[in-house]
Amino acid sequence: MFGQMTTAAQGFQGYNRRDVPSADGELTRTGPGTPCGEYLRRYWQPFIMADRLKDLPVAVRVMGEDLVVFRDRSGEIGLLNRHCSHRGASLEYGVIMEHGLSCCYHGWHYAVDGTILATPGDPPTSRVKDRVVHGAYPVREYRGIVFAYMGPPDTAPAFPLYDTYDAPNADLVPFYLTIPCNWLQAYENTQDPVHVLFLHARSTGVQFAQSNTIAQLVDYRRTPLGMMNMQTRRLGQLAWARTVETILPNANQTGAIWEEAREEKAFQRVAITRWVVPVDDTNTAIIGWRYFAAALDPEGKGDRSQVGFGSIDFIGQGEPRPYEETQRNPGDYEAQVSQRPIAVHGLENLAASDRGVAMLRQLIRQGIRTLTKDGLVEHPAPPMGSAIPTYTQDTVLPLPVDPNDDAGALKRFGARIAESLIADRNSTPVERAERIRKAAFGETRSHDGRPGAVAPVARL
Ligand code: FES
Ligand SMILES: [Fe+2]
Repeated sequence: MFGQMTTAAQGFQGYNRRDVPSADGELTRTGPGTPCGEYLRRYWQPFIMADRLKDLPVAVRVMGEDLVVFRDRSGEIGLLNRHCSHRGASLEYGVIMEHGLSCCYHGWHYAVDGTILATPGDPPTSRVKDRVVHGAYPVREYRGIVFAYMGPPDTAPAFPLYDTYDAPNADLVPFYLTIPCNWLQAYENTQDPVHVLFLHARSTGVQFAQSNTIAQLVDYRRTPLGMMNMQTRRLGQLAWARTVETILPNANQTGAIWEEAREEKAFQRVAITRWVVPVDDTNTAIIGWRYFAAALDPEGKGDRSQVGFGSIDFIGQGEPRPYEETQRNPGDYEAQVSQRPIAVHGLENLAASDRGVAMLRQLIRQGIRTLTKDGLVEHPAPPMGSAIPTYTQDTVLPLPVDPNDDAGALKRFGARIAESLIADRNSTPVERAERIRKAAFGETRSHDGRPGAVAPVARL
């Protein structure tokens, strides 16, 4: 009946649960001058696939800034403020020159660094080009992706080269996806391993590997680059330890998508390196490489022809699907977009399974505050002459079932591998694999850093 009251203490509380507080602006606002925007701008950020730069300029939006990017006829790439410094026409209609770009409206000619080379509608004596400063950002093209440094001039760090880029026998195929929500909820999905069990396996069926149906033991560690989650699973006599890393402030590496953990392996590397880059505060680009290698996909489930601009070769990343199908089999995209355009932390109820998400937010907050208060940013220092070591990998090795405490045995197995990953980071990949094998079986390292067998080997 109308106006009927419920007496239940907990039920039917919609009327009392309508307020939506504002989002956590410190972590979610990324426009110019915002604390998080300043933080993200202190790192090289990918923003476009290089093969999109053909004979026309491309209008892009990065962290709320409207820009135009082009490759001039000499092959150099320019990233300029989109609106012409003369009277504001968009440079996406500009004419690509041998060097730089010329505005369509009155021909102002810009070099790739924003210098104005000519203002041809003015008398030759005009000094206007000497006093006008047009905004531009430095770029770096690397393996089919263009990165920009959008921080203060002269503070650009060295372009980071991670060890995974040189994985033997792997092809790196660039991709660019967009998702209509805030960057943070897209990024924190990468430190939410519990969603793999539910969204990708149990909720509506197996979306990736069958092995994802096995509940993982989950733990987390700081790494020199950020953090990693450690997921350990039991498959018969084998134990599988997967690590998935965050490279602060907004990159992530993920292991093989269809990993079934049937074969023994140690230190199998990544299937994806990606950055989660705000287009603006309610649209996000996910840019990176898919790695194709026989070891990562022995059953050949990947399809590189689907990897590129606007698409990737696995379900639930925003590919066009009928609405009903997305309801019956939702993916990462549906889960993240439906958290609201900007997820509202004040309405959440974080649980034990959200430890990774909480830790990630805390690390980003710390980074923002260190920059705001002290003007400092952490950048990874590569060891002399080599790439920066990273921490995403899979190890599958025999581990006898411990009838008394198998969860404990699995946990220790995962922890030993994680510790080796960090302690042996400056070793070669072959050495790292070997040390992981030893660590997994209980060998530990002596205090001077040399391996020393102090515990009985648990197999063979
Ligand atoms: S508006 Fe670009 S040259 Fe005039
Ligand atoms: Fe996912």
